[in-house]
Amino acid sequence: MGTDKETKINIMNNIKIESQILIRRCKLNDLEGVIEVNERELPEDYPYFFYKSILDNFPEAFLVATDKDNKVIGYVMWRVEQIPSMDSLKYVNKGHLVSIAVSEEYRRRGIGTTLLSNSISAVKKHKITELVLEVRVSNYIAIKLYEKFNFKMNSAKKNYYRDGENAYYMVRNADTN
Ligand code: ACO
Ligand code: ZN
Repeated sequence: MGTDKETKINIMNNIKIESQILIRRCKLNDLEGVIEVNERELPEDYPYFFYKSILDNFPEAFLVATDKDNKVIGYVMWRVEQIPSMDSLKYVNKGHLVSIAVSEEYRRRGIGTTLLSNSISAVKKHKITELVLEVRVSNYIAIKLYEKFNFKMNSAKKNYYRDGENAYYMVRNADTN
């Protein structure tokens, strides 16, 4: 029987943007579509098993946007990493944004924002203390999006990308809105 909590989660995971666009959790048979969007929109590509392991381990924060034909037009995925805390011998969880992309023809309609806000709520269920990500220093648009979510530039990572470009390491307290 469905509890109130489950109902809430279901609603949260099926969000309609406009009439035909849906944001929901990624399923196994969405992975090919996710990979297609990734390869079209981002130079950082990953092997299938990498996506599969993110989906196996952190399914609640792996979301897709789909069009009227149920085709994937955007995705977001996170992983949770354990890091030693500064002030004790305990470990704390850090949410790491692995990748987000929206197909070019669907951009600037709030899909990226909806993917990010709902995946942040989902990843925070892992008792996260901070949220982190890397972004190309030239990726002005993605940086704007992250700043909208209160991520701050923490440092630069030299030569982070295979083509030699530097990354900004951006960080946000998990409890910030
Ligand atoms: N110019 C300036 N700012 C922009 C633009 C633009 N053309 N497009 C988006 N933004 C910024 C704005 O701040 C915007 O907020 P606003 O509309 O309130 O001003 C904000 O981004 C969010 O816009 P959305 O419509 O919600 O985002 P969209 O669906 O267009 O997706 C995304 C944004 C995912 C960054 C998209 O541009 C994309 O797929 N880019 C290519 C892939 C990429 O760079 N991904 C991030 C790599 S880093 C990583 O994955 C950790
Ligand atoms: Zn990263």
